[in-house]
Amino acid sequence: ITLSIHPDQPSTPVSPMLYGLMTEEINYSYEGGIYAEMVRNATFRGDWSGILYWYLLEQGNASATMQHDASTGPSDALKSSLKLEIKQADAQNQAGLINTGWWGFGLKPNTEYKGSFYAKAGASDMGPITVSLVANQTGKALATAKVESVSTDWKQYNFTLKTGAIEASTANHLAISVGHAGTLWLQLVSIFPPTYHNRPNGFRADLMEKMAAMHPQFLRFPGGNYVEGNRISDHFDWKKTIGPRVDRPGHESPWGYWSTDGMGLLEFLEWCEDLKMQPVLAVYAGYSLHGDHVNPGADLDPYVQDAVDEIEYLTGSTSTKWGAERAKDGHPEPFKLTYVEIGNEEWFDRSGSYDARYEQFAKAIRAKYPDLKLIATAPVKSKDVDVLDEHYYVRATQNFKDADHYDASRENSSSPMKWDGGHYDHADRKGPKVFVGEWATREGAPTPNMGAALGDAAWMTGLERNSDLVIMASYAPLLVNVNPGGMQWETDLIGYDTSKSYGSPAYYAQVMFGSYIGDHTLASKVEGADGKFFYSITGDAAKKKLYLKLVNGSSAPQAVDIDFSAAKLAASAKLVSLSAKDTQATNTIDHPKDIVPVESTIPVQGSRLRHTMPGYSIQVIELTQQ
Ligand code: AHR
Repeated sequence: ITLSIHPDQPSTPVSPMLYGLMTEEINYSYEGGIYAEMVRNATFRGDWSGILYWYLLEQGNASATMQHDASTGPSDALKSSLKLEIKQADAQNQAGLINTGWWGFGLKPNTEYKGSFYAKAGASDMGPITVSLVANQTGKALATAKVESVSTDWKQYNFTLKTGAIEASTANHLAISVGHAGTLWLQLVSIFPPTYHNRPNGFRADLMEKMAAMHPQFLRFPGGNYVEGNRISDHFDWKKTIGPRVDRPGHESPWGYWSTDGMGLLEFLEWCEDLKMQPVLAVYAGYSLHGDHVNPGADLDPYVQDAVDEIEYLTGSTSTKWGAERAKDGHPEPFKLTYVEIGNEEWFDRSGSYDARYEQFAKAIRAKYPDLKLIATAPVKSKDVDVLDEHYYVRATQNFKDADHYDASRENSSSPMKWDGGHYDHADRKGPKVFVGEWATREGAPTPNMGAALGDAAWMTGLERNSDLVIMASYAPLLVNVNPGGMQWETDLIGYDTSKSYGSPAYYAQVMFGSYIGDHTLASKVEGADGKFFYSITGDAAKKKLYLKLVNGSSAPQAVDIDFSAAKLAASAKLVSLSAKDTQATNTIDHPKDIVPVESTIPVQGSRLRHTMPGYSIQVIELTQQ
């Protein structure tokens, strides 16, 4: 293969926000994932089998009952509680509750865990209440705290649990117990480990570090299907996700489990702040997954107002109603917001109401925020669309075939564009810009294998080449809890259990593409390539860097003769290489580093580079211009 590159001929701009993250509550991404809360079912939801993940503890001859009590709770949002009636207990034979956590409690040595619960005692004060983190196999308490006394009114009680020189482990549970008879109501039990940047109500550090390494420029949230909910009443109702946790009622996620909404709107924004990403805010647009929609017009007005208020919560000064609310929640500084997305995958609305709903949202948002860029999630008649969100879930072979999807050469003014299940069949540079808001090569479970990473990398070369049109792109889904029952959707970028996490080969492809990217593409030409070789070349004039990305989707090594048209280049270049012997090779929770990028230096002969790529490889070559 020969590749001629012309560093003196910048071609098209590369969007400064090209690579970002897409996220929603799926696969236990937030609760049981990045949201570091360790207590599962903190608000005592139940089903026919009882209160989920909570069990009665009766030591020795202690005797007690537990039940859901719909008649009392600490707030209007949490009107119910768990009622523990202890008939008999003493200091040695305590009665209480056990929580089994998110597939256990991940404990580390010499670490502090901050906890709290809301509680109320029956006829007279109760206490002390003992809170312990206990090893499942030995029954040994690894950390213990006491709440001396609980009064007969609802109050919040805080405690700190500190481990000593223990072995790190996850097969642990939480026990809350009392050594005398009486009645105790509990609600919103919480325990947090140390979090990323030590944020209260914050995030798991290992997962945040993995995302930071991708250099994401934006976060698209809260969905995905999560913004819509299965039914209209289950949509992401942001006003119920802010303020103290005790004022958040929680809601059903479309992926089959309850969300306490501890991970609410402000937490998403703090996540953006921590990773220096811009929020790409998806607002609920009145359509939910099971097919219901809110009629455009007066019925839709309250939802439109919610969206306008939400934007004010993000961007308004503290003298605005919702800006002041944000300040009250602890964040007086407004957030920078450029893009607002109206709904999610609205092509699923077979009633055809999106045209009118989109227009109603766009009109109201424009009236107050004329500078915002609006993203439509299906083709609409309205001309007031800045960006269209297109989705692709495909196999590697499809990405090999379609890596030129957005190339100008595929634009075809004589054939009308066809919407093909989530995206148009070809590009149109006269239309709105494109946000590839969800895409993935779906091969491998729970996380993608090397074959998928190759498909992804081929696809990303096309995104970079066409980033004058494709201004943002985000892989989906991002996260999966690999414990049994943790996954609802196969092929997710980053896997984790209760204490560890790992990146898939496709994750490392993202790290490589996001870490080495210029601000413009360069004129270039390839000769001799078959259908399994892909490349993109970008440059950064200020840094004097060229970033060449190469993908060899074939099992055979590939020699590439690269000519930089007499450009003056440093005599050695940095090579980052990700490769495997087979497309099915992958990383797992127990073998997290089988396939990782390897860095080396390679010689440059003047303005030429003769380079051989291994089979099944993704490579970045960083060259310095002199
Ligand atoms: O990424 C998983 C789901 O795929 C998203 O929630 C939805 O938008 C898409 O259909």
